[in-house]
Amino acid sequence: MFATKIGKDIDQAAHWLSLGEAVAIPTETVYGLAADALQEDALLKIYSIKGRPSFNPLILHVGSIDEIERYTLGTSVLALSLAEHFMPGPLSILLPRNTAAIPDIACAGLPTIAIRIPNNELTLALLKKYPHPLCAPSANKSGYVSPTSPMHVSAGLQGEIPYILDGGLCNVGIESTIIEVIDNDVFLHRQGGVSVEVIEKFIQQKIKIAIPHHEQPSTSGQLKSHYATTTPLYRGAVEKLIEKFSGKKIAVISFSKTYNNVSNFPLSIKGDLSEAAKNLFATLRRVDDGAFDVILAEEFPKEGLGAAINDRLYRAAFSER
Ligand code: TXA
Ligand code: MG
Repeated sequence: MFATKIGKDIDQAAHWLSLGEAVAIPTETVYGLAADALQEDALLKIYSIKGRPSFNPLILHVGSIDEIERYTLGTSVLALSLAEHFMPGPLSILLPRNTAAIPDIACAGLPTIAIRIPNNELTLALLKKYPHPLCAPSANKSGYVSPTSPMHVSAGLQGEIPYILDGGLCNVGIESTIIEVIDNDVFLHRQGGVSVEVIEKFIQQKIKIAIPHHEQPSTSGQLKSHYATTTPLYRGAVEKLIEKFSGKKIAVISFSKTYNNVSNFPLSIKGDLSEAAKNLFATLRRVDDGAFDVILAEEFPKEGLGAAINDRLYRAAFSER
């Protein structure tokens, strides 16, 4: 047990990391539960603190493109140009792992490693200062809603980690988009903070959907019953669902609209999908505090960050478990 501290001191964070402890770090997407990527025992702590299945690989966080080259082998020109264009930022790229440099546990023994450069001032300073890269899944218990503030992290991991590096609220609010480049094609593994349209505009071609090759999904972002609230959540035609659940205490998560006879939680009154993405996880946590019998969520517009919002709500939905 630790007396978990919250602060802005990157030296404190670095100190605990060097001792092999896991520390929460801010990123522009969600808070990460970081550990030294080169200390296997530290990586095991991430799995045990999160209650994360051991087959679910971690994302490597680095501070520069040079490091991406150091920890991968034979990274293609297209992958590198995507990294140079979108990083630091909410994009992770699956790359051939330099197995001599990155331990198996970091990526569940897979030949590829997901890498990103997070765009948060404090964490970039930490990554520049700390001698090793950091593995960091979202700083929540496995399966629950990802954290977008230090308070969310401490609500879930209080006492289990020594330090939460406080970078305020996450600007993007939804996890990184995960892609993989195979030959000259780009495959999407997880919708996230960079929309498909923006990537397609840059590569001047269509993105393909990655099809998991085993029975097991290749990304846990593809698992159902992820990002799940304790209160049952249903998606779809909200008006009909309100009728169906009449008499119950209902919270509605909408894009911008409000409904009668329910508690309304519009994610962006002005109808902005980036603002909606930023508010999504905090709102899911807020409506999941026990005050409601049921959470209803609208279907969001499918373009831009709406696709990632729909994906997270789909995985949170009760009927899908
Ligand atoms: O925005 C983010 O990416 C956040 C912040 C903290 O950086 N991190 C994050 O990590 O979302 P996590 O562990 O919650 O989700 C990582 C996803 C998982 O679904 C995992 O299965 C997938 O990335 N992943 C990681 N390495 C992979 C690999 N080599 N092949 C396939 N999927 C991989
Ligand atoms: Mg996660």
